[in-house]
Amino acid sequence: METFARTFPDGFLWGAATASYQIEGAHDEDGRSPSIWDTFSRTPGKVLGGDTGDVACDHYHRVPEDVAIMTSLGLDAYRFSVAWPRIVPGGTGAVNQAGVDFYSRLVDTLLGAGIRPVVTLYHWDLPQVLDERGGWLNRDSAQWYTAYTEAVVAALGDRVVNWTTFNEPWCSSLLSYAIGAHAPGHHDAAESLVAAHHLMLAHGTAVPVIREHSPGAEVSITLNPTQVWGPEDGDDRDADAVRRADNAVNGIFFGPLFHGAYPDGLLDDTAGLTDHAYIHDGDLATMSVPLDNLGVNNYFPTRVRAAREGEEGSPMPGCEGVVETAPRPPLTDMGWEQSPESHRLIIERSARESGLPIYVTENGSAWPDTVSDDGHVHDPDRVAYLQSHLGAVADAIEGGTDVRGYFAWSLLDNFEWAFGYAKRFGIVHVDYDTQVRTVKDSGLEYARIIAANRSGDEG
Ligand code: FCB
Repeated sequence: METFARTFPDGFLWGAATASYQIEGAHDEDGRSPSIWDTFSRTPGKVLGGDTGDVACDHYHRVPEDVAIMTSLGLDAYRFSVAWPRIVPGGTGAVNQAGVDFYSRLVDTLLGAGIRPVVTLYHWDLPQVLDERGGWLNRDSAQWYTAYTEAVVAALGDRVVNWTTFNEPWCSSLLSYAIGAHAPGHHDAAESLVAAHHLMLAHGTAVPVIREHSPGAEVSITLNPTQVWGPEDGDDRDADAVRRADNAVNGIFFGPLFHGAYPDGLLDDTAGLTDHAYIHDGDLATMSVPLDNLGVNNYFPTRVRAAREGEEGSPMPGCEGVVETAPRPPLTDMGWEQSPESHRLIIERSARESGLPIYVTENGSAWPDTVSDDGHVHDPDRVAYLQSHLGAVADAIEGGTDVRGYFAWSLLDNFEWAFGYAKRFGIVHVDYDTQVRTVKDSGLEYARIIAANRSGDEG
């Protein structure tokens, strides 16, 4: 194994990330109501193997053990998400104290261990009752979300400083409403534009409420910006395909959040789908509320070209004439291209677009891990991915980009959405039959890198 010897600035935050539905289990305990993912995972054909998050990593019952693992790795910070259906089971209205108490105990356990809680308010588990009222297609969703946020921040805002409004709104809109791969599984490009708009509206409406209830809060959103590449020998049509895909993946959020407008071309390119009446006066000003930092989740680049005669284009809005081309090997177990270069490029661009300090809030890779006879999990591919992508982060910092921290995805193997338990991203292995956790070689390597940088900090 190559030794990784890059150094990071003093105070660089070393973390790991998870999300509520992916790890908690306890799907019907202490007043939790079903989320759109409970419904989706029970719909035949939507999730590989018919897997659900009913039990997952049983984290709901294993907080002390899981925080002890974080301590053993030397983590500075833990990024987790709060499940709306535990806090406000009716979607709107009464707050469920048992749900609040769970996260309050988690926060106290983390703080007691010297680990900073980094809290995401929405990582895709919308209460099912709200989907029945239109979900993110209903403009009232901004108010529903803000009231839920107020309940969480009022309870935890005395102890939590780091707040993230949304995780990857691209997934909650385009992937969920246009591509149909995530809950609620619609196939309507126009709907995905509406959902994206209402998610940004909810973000903009909630940020001042977070600041009001959490003095000194550092408020953020996590996007999944992605480097879009066209063919090296592409023509003008290919360049237009890159522009359209970039708008549908990156500009659709960078624009409203940081430039007060949708990106050039997006509204024209989608004029055949909608009259954009969902955009009201003042919305863009609400969405571009000042933030303290930007979270970047990034795993792979994407490659596109112009569709040829008769070829079916992308379901993303404005991308009817765009086709995705094959990723370049070596691929991860997800079939994702590994490109530290694209990781660096997208971090640098995110900093330029936002003018904000960047945290890499997710990065990692899936591999078909097993526990060996020696009791260890040898995952050299994940170790190599971790090293090369941390190298890209170090390169970005040396090039002058303000990157403040890195969160490995994921602390634990977990419910990987449409892939169920078939894909393992953890730096800690989970045996789903016994719930035994085993730190993988990648987790040990991450701990070594953290320790090496920490002694550097002190020396
Ligand atoms: C991201 C999600 C996260 C996990 C990783 C692999 O898109 O935010 O929950 O599924 O991908």
